Amino acid sequence: MSANLVTIAYLWAAGLFILCLSGLSHQESARRGIMYGIVGMLIALVATAAAEEFTGYALLAGIFLPAALIGLFVASRVKMTELPQLVAILHSFVGAAAVLVGFATLLEHGAERAGAAALILSSEIFIGVCIGAITFTGSVLAAGKLHGVISGKPLLLPARHFLNLGLLFATIWLAVVFVQGSGDPASQLVPLYVATAITALLGLHLVAAIGGADMPVVVSMLNSYSGWAAAAAGFMLSNDLLIVTGALVGSSGAILSYIMCRGMNRSFVSVILGGFGTGEGVVVEGSGGEHYPIEVPETTDLLRNAKRVVIVPGYGMAIAQAQPSLAKVTRILRDRGTDVGFAIHPVAGRLPGHMNVLLADANVPYDIVHEMEDVNSDFPRTDVVLVVGANDIVNPAALDDPNSPIAGMPVLEVWNAKAVVVLKRSMASGYAGIENPLFFRPNTRMLFGDAGTNIDALLAELQSESAGVPVG
Ligand code: TAP
Repeated sequence: MSANLVTIAYLWAAGLFILCLSGLSHQESARRGIMYGIVGMLIALVATAAAEEFTGYALLAGIFLPAALIGLFVASRVKMTELPQLVAILHSFVGAAAVLVGFATLLEHGAERAGAAALILSSEIFIGVCIGAITFTGSVLAAGKLHGVISGKPLLLPARHFLNLGLLFATIWLAVVFVQGSGDPASQLVPLYVATAITALLGLHLVAAIGGADMPVVVSMLNSYSGWAAAAAGFMLSNDLLIVTGALVGSSGAILSYIMCRGMNRSFVSVILGGFGTGEGVVVEGSGGEHYPIEVPETTDLLRNAKRVVIVPGYGMAIAQAQPSLAKVTRILRDRGTDVGFAIHPVAGRLPGHMNVLLADANVPYDIVHEMEDVNSDFPRTDVVLVVGANDIVNPAALDDPNSPIAGMPVLEVWNAKAVVVLKRSMASGYAGIENPLFFRPNTRMLFGDAGTNIDALLAELQSESAGVPVG
């Protein structure tokens, strides 16, 4: 394939990636967006492999085929609840790739250029390797935290901000040494090794200092970093499509991080510097008072008599896979004339859009799924709120307790409804590891047990009643 044709194919692929991102911004168009992305990636791969100057077919087959098979295997087996950690691990691969491309470029082409061209190449390599190393270690640690093999508690070293500053200044000094050695790869290797180690440590330290409640920002931020790492690799490999794609991922990840920060009322800088929002908070332990259990039949009665019901799904709904039964409960209630809606918090679950995807998959109509800012003012005129496996996102301490680690985070103000039924297995805390005073409010009832089992039981009761009553 001639260079011109490759450029045209790359333009098509870049256009499809842009359509993919715009498709992903709405539930209705998300599937179409994914298809654009798949076709764009196929065009990109075929055009790159078919380019005239490309000769490494044996190497491509040896690496690409096993990698594609492993990817297919892992993606087909991963549970919906494990997607966040899979995404984090995939980000780490991009980071590792940028580091490896950086070293390979230095060793292969470092001596070929002189003057300004050598300076530019050195800058590309240094920036690419450093972003890649931060992305790699940060993403591995984030995946460990999300998978629960590493504690979600923030690691707050006494002089952590000075440590970060020290590592940053050391990296800047190494950048100067590295660029000064341009054109002589042998002398550049040591500063690059040391800079890789330092930025890898920085990635670990930045993510280690971030508490559970701020993890959504970390995931989207690492997504953004992985994009910039890919763009840097694109500069090193002189691959325009990789530059464009990396910039698209980098900027969309940065916008997503901003949206997440706004959703959690956090400043982006304070989150990425680690712990400002979480460190000074007190984790309350022990009982906050009396709670009032409820059983399925009483909950069914509450739902039967309600004119307006709002359902708040959280991470526990994903664990319990309760969404298909919940969709059926919704259908029955709506058929009876009840006004039913879903309220989605921007950081519900463990991934941006986690709940929207699950509800769309269960065929819940899009027009009854509402964002937090649209629904919060409606709770006072709501009869029953069903909180299905959600915890942190309905915690009133975010508004009432200035010492809470989640203080200031906007939450779904479900306690303003007439009655709240919380479906969870125990009084355990959510991801942020803090107690939830909602569970002790006089209008809150706790429906203990697996949310899937309890929603199935609710559904059975409603179905047995609907079987006798003609519905409209
Ligand atoms: P959480 O606060 O984590 O609460 C989930 C609740 O579900 C838990 O309290 C748990 O209580 C319950 N649960 C678990 N399995 C269950 C089951 N089988 N049946 C019934 N209940 C079950 O979730 P949330 O309210 O969705 O809030 C999200 C949290 O995750 C926030 O802190 C957010 O910052 C963080 N986070 C979000 C993201 C993104 S991007 N969304 C990424 C990383 C972290 P029991 O154990 O008592 O059942």
